[in-house]
Order: sequence, then structure tokens, then C-alpha cells
Amino acid sequence: MSDKEDHGFARGLTNYGDRDFSLYLRKSFASSMGYSREMLAKKIVGIAYTPSGFNNCHRHFPELLEAVKRGVLAAGALPVEFPTISLGEVFLNPTSLKFRNLMSMDTEEMIRAQPMDAVVLMGGCDKTVPAQLMGAASADLPAIQIVAGPMMTSRYGEERLGACTDCRRFWGKYRAGEIDSEEIGNIEMRLATTAGTCAVMGTASTMACIAEALGMSLPGTAAIPAVHADRLRAAEATGAAAVRLLANPIRPSQVITRKSVENALRVLLALGGSTNAIVHLTAVAGRLGIDIPLTWLNELSDTTPVLVNLKPVGEHYMEDFFFAGGLGAVLRELKPRLNLDCLTVTGDTLGERIDAPADPVDRKVIASASEPREPQGGLVALFGSLAPRGAILKRSAADPTLFEKEGRAVVFSSLEDLAKRIDDPDLDITADDFMVLQNAGPTSPSGMPEAGYLPIPKKLSSKGLKDMVRISDARMSGTAFGTIVLHVTPEAAQGGPLGLVRNGDRIRLSVKNRSIDLLVDEDELARRRADFTPALRDPETLRGYDRLYAEQVLQADEGCDFAILKPVK
Ligand code: FES
Repeated sequence: MSDKEDHGFARGLTNYGDRDFSLYLRKSFASSMGYSREMLAKKIVGIAYTPSGFNNCHRHFPELLEAVKRGVLAAGALPVEFPTISLGEVFLNPTSLKFRNLMSMDTEEMIRAQPMDAVVLMGGCDKTVPAQLMGAASADLPAIQIVAGPMMTSRYGEERLGACTDCRRFWGKYRAGEIDSEEIGNIEMRLATTAGTCAVMGTASTMACIAEALGMSLPGTAAIPAVHADRLRAAEATGAAAVRLLANPIRPSQVITRKSVENALRVLLALGGSTNAIVHLTAVAGRLGIDIPLTWLNELSDTTPVLVNLKPVGEHYMEDFFFAGGLGAVLRELKPRLNLDCLTVTGDTLGERIDAPADPVDRKVIASASEPREPQGGLVALFGSLAPRGAILKRSAADPTLFEKEGRAVVFSSLEDLAKRIDDPDLDITADDFMVLQNAGPTSPSGMPEAGYLPIPKKLSSKGLKDMVRISDARMSGTAFGTIVLHVTPEAAQGGPLGLVRNGDRIRLSVKNRSIDLLVDEDELARRRADFTPALRDPETLRGYDRLYAEQVLQADEGCDFAILKPVK
């Protein structure tokens, strides 16, 4: 390695005040890892590597890493993996979203601080892909994403099981008394049986498709099952593609643009994808100064059909989506609506990618644009006196008979209040009421958990009620379904109107008008506002990451990113 080169191990030297000494020292220490001089002289592809004993979705990452490294080495560069935080969705308290920004900071800073010329991002479980894209966008080193891929389904009697829509379906049956504790115990062991991310079009799979639609991962890789040999071949090809980025450095800021973000929003809508994805895509785009006003989502939603028949909205699972044609088939149907000149990490445009030869499509799983499953997109933003900065409803997963409705509010002031009273036989509630959960937004102590899928009170579920209007400033799992209004902004804890709702108030929902209104007169609201005490924690009483989070987290319409992580103007 020439001491004057600034690639590979010569990049970003540790500062000892003597550049030549720094390089000499680094080479000495790097050689202790057994690298030959030839290897020490190569350009480096870093691999952001996220296995964890607390992340079941990434349990095949050791094998996947070997394939990425094989691809890098065969293409002539040196692969060097480095660990970052991993976020296993169900292992984090209070909720994984709280740590997404921490993972993004870890990813960004380790890409920037360590000597690599390009980076492969290995992620999968819900928050990991957005965190890696956010970090990579801010670091802006040539980067390519490879995702974990979805789990395979399992069986229980005649039933096909896949995490985690079926987790909720069977839990609903258990709550309604249709199955007993022994049976739910049996099902518990069969819902998630392979490596990989949830088996439906939940947040992880939606984000995998969004990464591919943005152009940040190789064509056709989003939906390959985690345990399929094609996933290993995709990892090897990703390693090779990362090496091509060394000669032709395409940076995230060239791939993630206003036009590619619009493509990703179209894909999100056509998939009927996770509501979480709008928060994550807003955060990723925000790192490059691209805003996503929710009015833009509505404009695109009006002109984007829902094409896929996948759980939690439809019938099929991610492995079916892969075998049916995957994201490529969806992109070809959306072609007239997409910005085809967007650059992807391969160096091809999206248009060139779409025009490549493709296998036949299974129309039971992926509909054509001429005969879509729904004429309009799966997500819609609502505005009104209850949500001045917007709220989200996944209309493709909701009951249309509840779309134009006025109801009486039954208010739960916190998650603790909800847990305490939801199954109280004396709870004053009917199927026509609107359940309202307050203080579950991003700055609340609960950190915006996936608690917006409020359970139907036992007194109603035991009579067979499956859905009712539920409203909150929380999020909902991408694997859940129901007439659920989420991400109400501003949140209750910040003094938003949601925090002023009282039992018995009337609320009007109109999906047709994209509105959600609290029907209480302004004088009464002013009185309530004067008495309002926000359920916020004083940052002065906190330390460490808790304090950073409390001081910095933004509202849902800004992607719940930290203010300090936005680009410097
Ligand atoms: Fe990891 Fe669902 S728990 S993707």
C-alpha cells in the first residue's frame, strides 16, 4: 500500500499528529489480523452487521455474512464487517422505535469513523432497515442494502401460520374464549419457526420493498425468503455490487431523491404496506432534506391502486409474494406512475430495471393495474380539529362500514389506564363508540409503542365484535388490522387536541373527506386547555439517551427523527 493512497486502511487515519506514523501503526495492527500485504492494500467494503441473541429475525446473519464477503472478495476488494446495535422488535422496552435513532447514529458514525470505501447494510427486523438507511444517508458513503428476508410459514392442523398477523388472529380468538390456554400455548410454538422477518407485509417487509423501490438494494431481493438459497446468492451479488460502487461511486444522496421517494410512496400504497413505513420513510428522506407532507401521501393515494393480496390485508404470505413475482411485478404494474429516470445502486435507472426480462406473475397474489384489488392506495392521511397536523388510517386494513361515522369517545388516558380498565365488565362502551387512547405518542413516556391496535374490550369481543374505531397518537404493528386511526399529531402529551378529549365527546370520522374532527365547541376546548397538564417527563430529570430522546424527538409527521440529526442548513 502506498502511504499516499487514501483508500482502504489509509482512509480517515487516527490522529496522532503524524500521518505517516498513524498509517504505519494502523497497518501493523491490521496485519495482526492475518491479512497479507496484498489484502492490506485493497479497497475496503465495510459491512454493517447486526446479528444479536435478542434478534430472532437476524439469526441466519452469520451465513448471510459469509455470502456477502464471498461476493466482495471475488470482485477484488476486502470485506470487513463491523457490529452496530441490533433491534429485535419484541425484545425492546418500552418499544423499538425509541432506539431506531440510536441505531442510525451508531451506523452513521461507524461508517464515517472507520476506514471503508463503501458499505453493505445488513438489516431486516422492523427498525433496522430504516435506521441503516437513515445513517447511510447522513454519512453519504456509497452504500447498498441487503435485507434478512421473510420467514417461511408454518402449520397448525389445517391452518397455515405466519408471524405475526396470525399471532393476533389467534390471540383475538383466545380473548373471545374461542380457544383455551392450552391451545394458545401450542400455537405460540408454531408461529415463528424459521430465521427471517415477519412472514406478512408488515413493517419489515414493507421497508425491504421500500429500500428496493428507492434503488438502495439489488432488484428482486426484497422478498426472497430468509432461508432460500437465492437469499445467499443475493447476498453474494450484493457484495459484488458494493465493489462496483468503488469504481463508480453512487452515493445515497444520488439514489434517495424527491423522485425516488415518490416512487417509494407509490409502492407503499400499492402494497397496502405498514403504517410505520410512512414514519420511517419520512425520517430517511428527512436526512437528505426531503420533506414528506401528508397531503402528498393523499395525492398519491388517490392515484395509486392496491395491487397485492397479502396479509395482514389479504390472504397470502411473503413467500407467496416472492414466488408470484415479488416487487418487480408490482413495479411493472406501476410503471406509468413511476419516475423511471431514478438512479439505483446498480448504476441502472429504475426504468432499465423494470424493462429487464421477468418471470410470469401469479395474479392471485399480485393484481394487474387494470384489475387492482382496490382502486386507491392502502393508506390515507386524515386532518381536522382532532389532528391538525394529520393522522394515518390504513384503509385497506379497515372496515369500510366504519369509514363515515360519528361516535361517542371512550377515553383511556394512558397505556396503564387502558390495561387497567379495558376488560372491566362495567366499562361503559358499545360497538358504536370510538375508543381513544391518549399519551402514547413519541414524547410520552411510552415512546410511541405499537399500542394503537387497542384490544376490543372483552365484553364486546366475547359477543363476536371484531372491529371498532380506535384513535390514538401511538403506532400499530404492520401486521395488525382494523379501523385504527394512528399517529395523531400533535400528540396528546404535547398539548394536541387528542389530550383534550373527554368521555362522552362526539368525534366524526370521514375517510371520504380525509377528516377527523372533535365536535366540541372552542370555548369548552379553551377551558380544558387552560387546565391541561402535559404528561411529559422533564428532560432535566433524565440522563443519557433518555434525556437526548426527550429533548430531541420530533413528531410523527417529521418521522420521529431527532432534530439534531436533520441536515445542517
Ligand atoms: Fe422482526 Fe417482525 S419481529 S420483523
